[in-house]
Amino acid sequence: MMPLNLHEYEAAARERLTPTAYDYFAGGAGDEVTLRANRASFDRLALRPRVLVDVSRRSMKCDVLGADAAMPILVAPMAFQRLAHADGELAVARAAGAAHTVMVLSSLATTPMEEVVVAARPSRVWFQLYVFKDRGATRALVRRAELAGCTALVVTVDAPFLGRRERDVRNRFSLPDGVHISNLAGFGKDELPREAEGSGLAAYFEKQLDVAFTWKDLAWLRETTRLPVVVKGVLRADDARDAVAAGCQGIVVSNHGGRQLDGAVAAIDALPEVVAAVGGKVQVYLDGGIRRGTDVLKALALGANATLLGRPVLWGLAADGEDGAKRAIDLLAAELDLAMALCGCRSLAEIRRDLVVRAP
Ligand code: GLV
Repeated sequence: MMPLNLHEYEAAARERLTPTAYDYFAGGAGDEVTLRANRASFDRLALRPRVLVDVSRRSMKCDVLGADAAMPILVAPMAFQRLAHADGELAVARAAGAAHTVMVLSSLATTPMEEVVVAARPSRVWFQLYVFKDRGATRALVRRAELAGCTALVVTVDAPFLGRRERDVRNRFSLPDGVHISNLAGFGKDELPREAEGSGLAAYFEKQLDVAFTWKDLAWLRETTRLPVVVKGVLRADDARDAVAAGCQGIVVSNHGGRQLDGAVAAIDALPEVVAAVGGKVQVYLDGGIRRGTDVLKALALGANATLLGRPVLWGLAADGEDGAKRAIDLLAAELDLAMALCGCRSLAEIRRDLVVRAP
């Protein structure tokens, strides 16, 4: 049966994925408290719909970094998409392109970025950057993203080390033959160690990522590129202000889908302080726990310019390749459209703070 919503896509995907791949995508760090909190906090927010508004015309067109997207739903960066389906990142890029929305491509993609950028047309691809100890490799990766036609850099700042994801430790997570970290071939960084006691990805992070990277280094990064820099993984007002001061043009409020620091505040609960701190100087996006159109609406009401959808796109991909990924995005967009109509909102500008209240 065709999945009716994003939860059903997860069930469909689970039947198709190996347990190791499912656990890698689905899992969170530690006790998975933050993973659950991302969802639970959305459910604690109630909507205060406005009635008797003529909602015969509605638009969810959205400005992201000065360019149009058809919806305030971007595709979040996610590693190793060929673990979900043979077409991997290409299928997700085509789905994002067909939906006229941005795809954020992971540094840990399993497909060369140039091919992904072409597949995503007419939409745009933003490149998610992990900063490697090897600054030369980091710079080369940035340069390659520019040349490939990526239109922004999304620097993940919540992962100097990988969170301890016990599912991956138990499964001794690694990549199967034929699946590589494509964009890091040439730097000897395209494989996960297989001899690791626990998670091969955790071992890879420990060996490769720059744990000493600071706001000062972010300024270095900004100078090495002409692309706008978005910082992903901010949960506090002071960090948000530092991001603005460092010249970043966007902030993703995110706890990495509950995969990094377990016990971290739910993304939607951190959003208001970040929005207040940046005072409209840069765009603010949110990811973590988005499963319903009403979640997107709640995030926008609390001040996000757009949201990023992660795991559900992979569930669609695993269930039915490009069509599944596209349908997952479309389902969420249709739910948002209905939620807007039922809340008396004809445009994103009409999704205001007073639509949301903390449920008693
Ligand atoms: C990769 O970036 C992950 O969080 O698994």
